[in-house]
Amino acid sequence: MKRVAVIFICVFSLYLIAEEIPSGEHAMGSRKYSDYEKPESCKSCHTRIYQQWSQSMMSQAYTHHWDEIEYWELAVPHGDKDPTFKAAADGCNGCHAPLAFLAGDVPPPKPAENSRANESVSCDLCHTITGISGDPVNFNWISEPGRTKYGAKEGLESPHHITKFNDIYTVADYCGSCHNEQNPFGLWVKSTQIEWEEGPYAEQGVPCFVCHMPKAPGRSAPMAEEGMVAQHIFLGAHNEAKLKSAIEVSIHPDEREIPYDGAVVFQVELFNAKAGHKIPTGSVEDRILWLDVRAVDAEGKEYHLPVDLKGFEGEEYTVASDELAYSDMGFPLGIEDFEGVQRDGVPVGNRIFRMPYFDEKGIMTIQQWNTRSFGVDYRVGPRETKLEHYTWYMPDDIAFGDVVITARLYYQKLVKPVADFLNVPADESEMILMNEASTTIEVYD
Ligand code: HEC
Ligand code: HEC
Ligand code: HEC
Ligand code: HEC
Ligand code: HEC
Repeated sequence: MKRVAVIFICVFSLYLIAEEIPSGEHAMGSRKYSDYEKPESCKSCHTRIYQQWSQSMMSQAYTHHWDEIEYWELAVPHGDKDPTFKAAADGCNGCHAPLAFLAGDVPPPKPAENSRANESVSCDLCHTITGISGDPVNFNWISEPGRTKYGAKEGLESPHHITKFNDIYTVADYCGSCHNEQNPFGLWVKSTQIEWEEGPYAEQGVPCFVCHMPKAPGRSAPMAEEGMVAQHIFLGAHNEAKLKSAIEVSIHPDEREIPYDGAVVFQVELFNAKAGHKIPTGSVEDRILWLDVRAVDAEGKEYHLPVDLKGFEGEEYTVASDELAYSDMGFPLGIEDFEGVQRDGVPVGNRIFRMPYFDEKGIMTIQQWNTRSFGVDYRVGPRETKLEHYTWYMPDDIAFGDVVITARLYYQKLVKPVADFLNVPADESEMILMNEASTTIEVYD
């Protein structure tokens, strides 16, 4: 009888524990920092994985300059001034400083104070995730810190920890729990995993890991067996090698020989050959991709060609202009009647591949938490090809002979006028040449 009671109590308390592990926003304050091991305690054995991780954006999610600026200068004051945004501002930490969030240390000490919030997305946070509660969104992973470290391999042994296989480490939902985000108005302001799910790579069984944690022969620890080891490099938009050639560019004219008073149409083809999701993805409110087409005649004179309009709804946001936007930054910054800054900062007339985020006035915003609607989604989907046309009437001063026309595709992590306004270090708004292509025509008398 006694034994039955003990079993009953055990089973019942297990049931309670299983039921009670909070996730997502409910997990705030449910743990202590000391429940999680520091990345340094994994370093002695998993040395190379540690070094890879410490160079990746994962280990800088809380400390990176632009994250620090946006969180402290925009999100926190916004939440303080308007309770609608309080939970969203606290929630930044669920993905960027998850240990601080779980410890209820919100807002966390600033990066300069060197607290455990700085561990950002750490080894022990990722390797004590035991599941995702529902469809992946808003840090809804379930965290069960302790001696057991979970991973994608079965039957491994370690002197430091218990090692267990968990199939969540083999599916894209795992990454989607932080790479999909819904804001207070229910809008999908980040949807990398959803874009992937709807694209060709999900169908072919190619999850995030294949491209962002590629496997190579070796051993993950000195006492491990040789095998294929998941590299923790997580290259993304902060790495030129990852960005370069992700989209292939080609250009050709409809005709090669053009009279000096004639016109020619060029077609540019852009093929997303490398990314498993749209480009840009993730922080879509910040990021732009644009196509710049220029002709250089036989005497070296340069002409900038504006893109031909296609006439779809919302197209004006996909063609660079001088307009102002982002005026909603005025509220958290305490600037009255703020007019905003330049919307694009790109040569007028260039095609921009983006999806605009709008505030309640219908003005573009980079504050994803303050987004009320989206404009046209003119990004380049996985394995999608976009065609752009350029009709060029020969200018009066064109020189006879060969004219070289070059199409250049640029990427920018944060629109430059916003970066300059908020004093974000220049590397966040550098122009990265993703790809280019040229063709030649001959202008005759
Ligand atoms: C004393 C050495 C040592 C330390 C310290 C150590 N590990 Fe390990 N770990 C191992 C060994 C050995 C293996 C098995 C590797 C193999 O056989 O491929 C392993 C395997 C793993 C795996 C793979 C699990 C799986 O089933 O796929 C994960 C995840 C892991 N460790 C995480 C961590 C984390 C996180 C830390 C720090 C909190 C840590 N380890 C600290 C030695 C160590
Ligand atoms: C963003 C979450 C994340 C972070 C951060 C992370 N890992 Fe992993 N790790 C994974 C996933 C997912 C896998 C399994 C990947 C696969 O097999 O495709 C993995 C695999 C491993 C493995 C097994 C490698 C192998 O293939 O044999 C070890 C060991 C490991 N991680 C240790 C660490 C250590 C140590 C750190 C910190 C320095 C760390 N991880 C940081 C998600 C993470
Ligand atoms: C606990 C939340 C969390 C999980 C789980 C997570 N990530 Fe991330 N990841 C982030 C955050 C936050 C950043 C942004 C870092 C920054 O720039 O501030 C990031 C950045 C990245 C980047 C770099 C992007 C760039 O701009 O360079 C890549 C690539 C990436 N993650 C891939 C993955 C993959 C693949 C997985 C699944 C194995 C995963 N992430 C799981 C939170 C997470
Ligand atoms: C077929 C390979 C492939 C797959 C699968 C893939 N990615 Fe990527 N990813 C890329 C490439 C290439 C880039 C660089 C181009 C870009 O920024 O979009 C990239 C960029 C990123 C970035 C940086 C984007 C930015 O603008 O900062 C993140 C974050 C990311 N991937 C996360 C994921 C997640 C999460 C998954 C799974 C749901 C995934 N990726 C699946 C190839 C892939
Ligand atoms: C659901 C998880 C999640 C939440 C919540 C979240 N982020 Fe992020 N954040 C990410 C991921 C993942 C990335 C990387 C995406 C990419 O590379 O395109 C990112 C990227 C960023 C970036 C761009 C970093 C760079 O260097 O380009 C900034 C800034 C940022 N987040 C700030 C915030 C702020 C402020 C909040 C709260 C209002 C917030 N985030 C809420 C997951 C999240």
